[in-house]
Amino acid sequence: MKPLLITIDGPAGAGKTTVSRELARQLSYTYVDTGALYRGIAVAARDAGVPPDDEPGVAALAGTVALAFTKTASGPRLVLNGMDITDEIRSPDITMAASRISAQPAVRKSLMGLQRRLGKEKGVVFEGRDMGTVVFPDADVKFYLDADLKIRATRRYRELRSKTPAQDLDAVEEQMKIRDRNDSSRRIAPLRPAEDAVTIDSTDLTAAAVVRLMISVIRQKFP
Ligand code: DC
Repeated sequence: MKPLLITIDGPAGAGKTTVSRELARQLSYTYVDTGALYRGIAVAARDAGVPPDDEPGVAALAGTVALAFTKTASGPRLVLNGMDITDEIRSPDITMAASRISAQPAVRKSLMGLQRRLGKEKGVVFEGRDMGTVVFPDADVKFYLDADLKIRATRRYRELRSKTPAQDLDAVEEQMKIRDRNDSSRRIAPLRPAEDAVTIDSTDLTAAAVVRLMISVIRQKFP
């Protein structure tokens, strides 16, 4: 089978990261988490003392920072101006700042160039919000992964509990609602399924079952 460009979009907590990583592993593809790039810009802004809503300030930063993934045995690491920021991008503050920053046209434009460069080589699974709609409208296979809000919040809560100081489930759900609203209502590249995307609801499915389903969709389209 020729190497493909596969996109997986959807709201937070739908299981995109687990599924994208596993799909990429099974296909021996590269996995690119584009949300990490928006989070990386949020870290750069915080470190430079630029508030997330200072559009010109954030735009200037987005155009100059060196943001890249490096491959390691334990998975990709995100490096900002030479510093590994893979773990700190998951903090609740950076999560909310990334959501606000991601609505800014200049930021999206800077990251679009970077993402398209990463997509030059096929054999990639891209995870994000606008991969199939805006960044790669000609992707070979597009998925939209969704799940009920309660389930998404519970999954994120469990994940956060092992990494950051306890946040209660209600707070996680509330933040997720705000992020969903920001991501779906923004003017440019709002979160929505591409017309030609295959939508999968992961509410009652394990990650392994979602990956199996995706592989069967891919095999059907590219026997
Ligand atoms: O997938 P994530 O939660 O790590 O994404 C962080 C933020 O970045 C999220 O609030 C939406 C935004 N994002 C985006 O606007 N476009 C993408 N392709 C990926 C993420």
